[in-house]
Amino acid sequence: MSEAAPQKAQASGCPFSGSAAAEPVSLLSPRAMSCPYGVYKQLRSEEPVKYLPDQNIWIVTRYDDVEYVLENPERFSAKESPSSTNAYRAFPEALAILAQSRAVPRARTLMLADLPHHTRYRTTAQRALAPARTLKEFSPKLRTIVDELIDGFCESGRAEIVGALSIPLPMALVAHIFQVSPDWISKLKGWSDSFFAALSGSVGEKEVIKAAHDTLEFENFILDRIAERRQTPVDDFLGRLIAQPEGEEKLTDPEIVNICSQILVGGNESSINMLSNLIYLIATTEGLQQKLQADPARIPALVEESLRMEPPLQAMYRITRHEEDFNGVKVPPNSKLMLNFGSANRDETYYQDGESFDLDRDNRETIHLAFGRGIHACAGQALARKEAVFTIEKVIARLPNLRLSTDLPPERAPLFGVRGFRTLNVEFDPTPRMAPAVNQ
Ligand code: HEM
Repeated sequence: MSEAAPQKAQASGCPFSGSAAAEPVSLLSPRAMSCPYGVYKQLRSEEPVKYLPDQNIWIVTRYDDVEYVLENPERFSAKESPSSTNAYRAFPEALAILAQSRAVPRARTLMLADLPHHTRYRTTAQRALAPARTLKEFSPKLRTIVDELIDGFCESGRAEIVGALSIPLPMALVAHIFQVSPDWISKLKGWSDSFFAALSGSVGEKEVIKAAHDTLEFENFILDRIAERRQTPVDDFLGRLIAQPEGEEKLTDPEIVNICSQILVGGNESSINMLSNLIYLIATTEGLQQKLQADPARIPALVEESLRMEPPLQAMYRITRHEEDFNGVKVPPNSKLMLNFGSANRDETYYQDGESFDLDRDNRETIHLAFGRGIHACAGQALARKEAVFTIEKVIARLPNLRLSTDLPPERAPLFGVRGFRTLNVEFDPTPRMAPAVNQ
């Protein structure tokens, strides 16, 4: 029997009660930005594939249609997915900065590549990322890092979770992948924020110029490490990208730089929001923490249900190569599609009472789309899932009676297409540190 949480509407941090919103469709209104699920539901039932003139985009909201596009890369190109290159094009000063790049000609790999080229990038990146091996090496470290971070605030009975936990953890994983010391974390985070802001397309000239400077810095950081590994081979992510097996076409430096920038941003922003969304869910769902304390084996189910309900990346983009017919809705060639995971993951065709949190939902029958599907499906999903499970195990055990702060309400991330928090203040019953405090 499924077991819905008592605070259903609150579980997503969204006042949407499940009934269709009676307003004209806009994804950019403040209401839709803070809680898009009412608009999605309306679109699924009335216009599942709809042209939005204010964004010059076709939004695709039903599960079947989103899945169809993702699984037919020969009909839908990923090449013009959001990319900071698009933002730079509007600002000549940013383009002039990028012209100084040592990683030229610029390459578009993985998420920004189509078949047949994508296969080569994906095979190489997957082999270099070696999720099983990375997890084996990183897991003990991850547990220690989570404990150290929780030690930093557990005695006080309160914390701002985004800064105290959600940001440092994914950054530690990225630092591990690039094999740099924790001193690099703030630099890596700064670069990632800057790239993400530029590719979100919602920033002005100043931010785009900063992103261009940061791009050069990041490229040089990677290029210097490539040069070191060419001199002295190392068996790490970058080393494995360089050392390809005999007979395979070697990646160029700009291709390696582009793959690394996708690992940086991919490994960072979405994971931060995934962790915050999970902790929000626990803090706002009555009885959930106790249930998980009694049976921690259910934590992976919690992670999947949170990813289904609140995919940190709400949408990805594709371009039609030909005219497409979605059940009578004709979409011309070269149209931009927004594949809405946030909506597809609640599609009533597949998810009974899909607007509600249900820890016992059977996710095996219809796997949510939070990590995409098909050739571009997230390369880091095994890492992200483990990161989530380890973190929540510790949160459940070490922060009893977790709840939202009474005086500081959560603030949503202001970016369109991203579901997460800018700040998330919580309270809990104070607990002792695990390790002695440094400098005591
Ligand atoms: C909760 C965390 C994460 C979420 C929600 C997420 C989501 C996604 C999605 C939806 C895609 C598909 C993009 C598309 O179809 O165009 C994707 C691709 C990708 N992700 Fe993730 N991701 C997460 C974590 C990570 C991590 C930790 C890494 C690496 C360390 C990573 C690296 C990548 C890469 C390299 C791709 C491109 C794959 C390709 O095009 O072949 N992601 N991710």
